[in-house]
This record gives sequence, structure tokens and C-alpha cells, in this order.
Amino acid sequence: MLYRFTYCCLLLMAVVSCSKETVPSIEKAKLVLPDQPYDYGNLALPVGSLPASTLFNNLEMGVLVDPIPGTSMFEVTPWGATLGRVLFYDKKLSLNNTISCASCHHQDKAFTDGKALSTGFEGRVTTRSSMAIINPITQHNLFWDSRSKSIHDLSLQPVQNHIEMGMENLNRLVSKLENTDYYKPLFAKAYGDGQITPERIAIALSHFVSSITSNQSKFDRGVENGFSNFTELERMGMNLFHSDKAKCGSCHGGTNFAAQDGPLDAYGGGFDLSGNPASDLRGATNIGLDLVYKDNGLGDGKFKIPTLRNIGLTAPYMHDGRFKTLEDVLDHYTDGLKAHKHLDVKFKDANGNLRPLKLTSLEKKAIVVFLHTLTDTEMTRNPRWSNPFQE
Ligand code: HEC
Ligand code: HEC
Repeated sequence: MLYRFTYCCLLLMAVVSCSKETVPSIEKAKLVLPDQPYDYGNLALPVGSLPASTLFNNLEMGVLVDPIPGTSMFEVTPWGATLGRVLFYDKKLSLNNTISCASCHHQDKAFTDGKALSTGFEGRVTTRSSMAIINPITQHNLFWDSRSKSIHDLSLQPVQNHIEMGMENLNRLVSKLENTDYYKPLFAKAYGDGQITPERIAIALSHFVSSITSNQSKFDRGVENGFSNFTELERMGMNLFHSDKAKCGSCHGGTNFAAQDGPLDAYGGGFDLSGNPASDLRGATNIGLDLVYKDNGLGDGKFKIPTLRNIGLTAPYMHDGRFKTLEDVLDHYTDGLKAHKHLDVKFKDANGNLRPLKLTSLEKKAIVVFLHTLTDTEMTRNPRWSNPFQE
């Protein structure tokens, strides 16, 4: 329980932590919620994904959802996610009422913010680019440096100091939320009574984040109809994407086009014969962006292999937002790779020499066209994930 809570506290700290002075500027926005909650519990994952119940209830499979209080079951509940939605969009979660989760995670941009770096509390700029939130429960590692591992391993991380910092601030947050008229009834719906605690805040937020799913892109429809909805160029791009020539799918794999980071996958962890972890790759690798990294990520310039779902909506690209367009990204893989010592072996030949992808301009174009088939405007427009505050 504690380690899951820890994860959520980390998220909360992004907004709640920081300075001592509070400048209360009470929001005039009006909260508007449907009488009945959306069907958040019914998670619509892509065809081929493990069922949500497996992801939630197998500690080695899933991430980030907390058990329903009083049970050991992981599940997204409709009222839990409804409360989480309000918290996600509520600027009261920042000390001076200026920043919510949604300030850096915009639904219409698949929950990124369209900037290379984000601006947080008191105008402070983040060191990394905001990340998309898409089918997060299918992943095992979170953040650009994969620092938050699966719920299976999160308890091992040395985050005690962070918890303390977070707790201090979160208690202040609790009194703030108690002073509103809308939170107590919402906590009562989610938890049976109106008590507000940091733990309950964290659980509700994780229910909302976990509910964000995408399975309605042109690609997803293609899976069902044998890709008869694809143009020739899109089909060419899809085949190239998964080919040995372009290699994209060998990293951006699975139903979420993200790290293959399960316990036994290429970028996951392996076990020796005694069952001890032999490797722990965290779904992260080095793609030769720099010879010397300013930000070393997980270490050795390794960063999380991110999902490519909705990639047409999430520019600019990479952990620091250095590339403005998908064409720039493709140019990097074809001409821009740097021979970093820890460059992924997929970009090296048998002698360890740099081996950039040899893609023609038509092939690059086809891949970009294919990437746009991963756009799911159903996810980016669905009211269940939208701002419940009418400004
Ligand atoms: C000031 C901007 C900002 C705010 C506010 C913010 N985030 Fe983020 N978020 C980021 C950035 C930047 C990253 C990547 C951080 C990193 O890798 O170190 C991120 C990463 C994440 C991720 C990881 C996604 C993945 O696939 O690994 C999740 C989930 C997330 N944020 C949820 C939240 C929630 C929930 C809140 C509110 C409690 C929140 N964020 C508030 C900027 C922000
Ligand atoms: C060896 C593994 C690997 C291969 C092969 C690979 N990628 Fe990536 N990709 C990554 C990693 C890791 C990142 C994040 C790097 C960073 O931000 O520092 C990334 C980032 C991206 C991004 C930016 C994502 C974002 O949210 O900003 C796009 C787009 C992308 N890759 C597309 C492709 C395409 C298209 C191909 C095939 C031509 C490909 N990748 C091949 C590992 C890989």
C-alpha cells in the first residue's frame, strides 16, 4: 500500500511542493459534474492488451492503481475516478492556486502541453518535457528516467525524504480542500465518508490517471478490419515500422507502442536461474541524442521508450522537447545518431560501429504517415477526461 501511495505522492509533489508563501486567489470557476459518474471502471484498452483486471492484480504486470479501501483488489471505481478528475483539474492543488495537473497535461494534446519544457509553480520551469498519459496501466515504468518502477518494485526506491516533504505539504492541502463545499460530498461518494486524507487524494488521482485509455485510433480500427481502412502509404509505413530496416517496433512495441518492459521483455528485467533479478533495464535506452548528455536520464543517457500513440498531437519531441516535428525525429534516426558509448546495440553493427537507419525520404514519409494513424481524437475529446470546471 505504502509504495503505491508513494508513487502518487510523487505526482502530487509536482504541484503541491515548493515555496512557503501562499497567495490565495480563490478560483471563481464553477464545478459541473454529471449526476451519474462516467463508466470509468470499464477500461477500454487496445485489442491484444492484457485485461485490466490482470494488469491491476498481478504485481509484476501493472502499475499505479491503488486497491479499493478495505479490499486487496485493484480497480478503477467510477466515483474514485470522478473525484480524481476534479483533483486533476483543480488549481487548489498548488499552493498559490495557479497550477493543476492539467496545466501541464492538456487533454487535447494527449495530456502533454505542447511545450519543450513546462512552467510550474511560481513560473519555475521543469527540466524535462511533459509526458503524454495514454494507457498508463499497460506500462511498468513511469517518467522519462523510468524512476518510478512497477508497483512491484516501487517500494524499493529510496523515496523516504520525498514522502516526508510531500506529507508536510499534503496536510496543508487537506485543510484547503476541507474549506471547499464540493470535496466532502465527493470523498463521501468515493470512500463512503467525507473524510479527506492525503492517501485518499492520492488514490483518487491514480484512479483518474489509470482510467485514461486509448483504443479508437485509425490503427485500432485497422486491427479489426485487416487494415482495409489504410492507404497504401500508411500500410507501407506500418510494415517499415515493424521491419528490421527501421526497427521502430522493436523498441516502441506492444499494444501501446511503448517500451517492452515486462519482466521478461527485451527492455524489462531478466532473472537468473535462482530467480534473482539479473538485469533491470527499466524500459529505457540510449538513442544517441548527444555525445555528452546534460541530463543523463536513468544513467548513461538512457531514457524511457515512450508510447507513440497520439504522437501526432504531442510535439515537440524527446525528454527535452528538442525536435519540433516527426520529420526531425526521423532525420535523427537516419542521419543524427551520435556514437555514445551506451548507444543501443540496435544502432550498431557487429563491430560496434555506428549504424544509422538507412531510410529513403519516401520511407521516412511513409513512417510519419503511419504514425498519424495512431491519433485517437475520441480520447482527446471524451468528456470523461475533460475539465469539469467551467471557467
Ligand atoms: C509543471 C508541470 C507539471 C505538472 C503541474 C504535473 N506534471 Fe506530470 N509530468 C510533467 C513532466 C515534466 C513529466 C516528466 C517528468 C520526468 O520525467 O522527470 C511528467 C510526467 C508525468 C507522468 C508520467 C507519464 C509516463 O508515461 O511516464 C504522469 C502519470 C503524470 N506526470 C501525472 C501528473 C499528475 C497526476 C499531476 C498532478 C498531481 C501532474 N502530472 C502534474 C509535468 C507536470
Ligand atoms: C533502440 C530503441 C529505439 C528504436 C529502435 C527507436 N526508438 Fe524512438 N525512442 C526511443 C527512446 C528511448 C526515446 C526517448 C528518448 C529521449 O527522449 O531521450 C524515443 C523517442 C521517440 C519519439 C519521441 C517521443 C516523444 O514522446 O517525444 C518518436 C516520435 C520516436 N521515438 C519514433 C521512433 C521511430 C519512428 C522509430 C523507427 C524509425 C524509432 N523511434 C526507433 C527508443 C527507440
